[in-house]
Amino acid sequence: MFLNGGQLKKVFQKAKRDRFGIIASNVVFDGIVRGLCQGYENKRSDGLLQMSSGAVKYAAGDTKDMNVGATFISKMIEIIANQYKNSGVGLHIDHATPNYFDFLVYVIENGLVSSVMIDASHEPFEENIRISREVVTVARKYGILVEGEIGYIKGSEDEIVSDTELYTQPEEALEYVQKTGVDLFAASVGTNHGVTKGANVVLRLDLIKQIDNLLIANNVETGIVLHGASGLTAQQQQDAIRNGVVKINKDTRYQMEYAIAVQKYW
Ligand code: G3H
Repeated sequence: MFLNGGQLKKVFQKAKRDRFGIIASNVVFDGIVRGLCQGYENKRSDGLLQMSSGAVKYAAGDTKDMNVGATFISKMIEIIANQYKNSGVGLHIDHATPNYFDFLVYVIENGLVSSVMIDASHEPFEENIRISREVVTVARKYGILVEGEIGYIKGSEDEIVSDTELYTQPEEALEYVQKTGVDLFAASVGTNHGVTKGANVVLRLDLIKQIDNLLIANNVETGIVLHGASGLTAQQQQDAIRNGVVKINKDTRYQMEYAIAVQKYW
């Protein structure tokens, strides 16, 4: 079943309350979408698929129109997800920087997604708050969830590139979520985008816990998102969830699995 924003909100509220996490997988190819939806159904689990701006541009093909690309991926996922009755699958826009504001408005107004991410983390703090709040204002009218970010997550994800890591400070996180009203919040806690990770990553579970405790103490329902999860061990992911993470983002993992499968076939 394809989840709308309201249905996805309930999934995240339950996740926060009962301490479980949703895997958010970056997709573009139908084979990967089918595989993930079958996996969710087999486990009778809800899940989230997400598309980066690069994926949307790829799907747009020769039209070079991101609105066309997003419609194409959204309809494909809706058709595939609706073939299954024991799992709900939402669709999210990953890492949309402020220059994609109009694109976000388009996907929200046209009901193509369940949630969106506005990533203005490279803007000054106050500007990040202003832009994120603007997206929340539009999204609220349509019941679509919004994810925001402060701090820098090291590595590269499409057009977001950072050579440095800037850990999210709990007090700033609280101020950001209270002033913007975002539903989900990406924290920089030691993971990085891309392939270099795994056991060598120092995952700041203490920081996740501090942020989560502070949000709960202030009656804020916002869920914490862990980016750059490809290559993390199962234990690392479970520890993150236990300490407050409700959404775990993976991208590189699927490119690698896809490449390995194609190579093996040939
Ligand atoms: O938003 C997407 C993720 O943070 C992807 O990171 O490619 O390291 O899995 P990853």
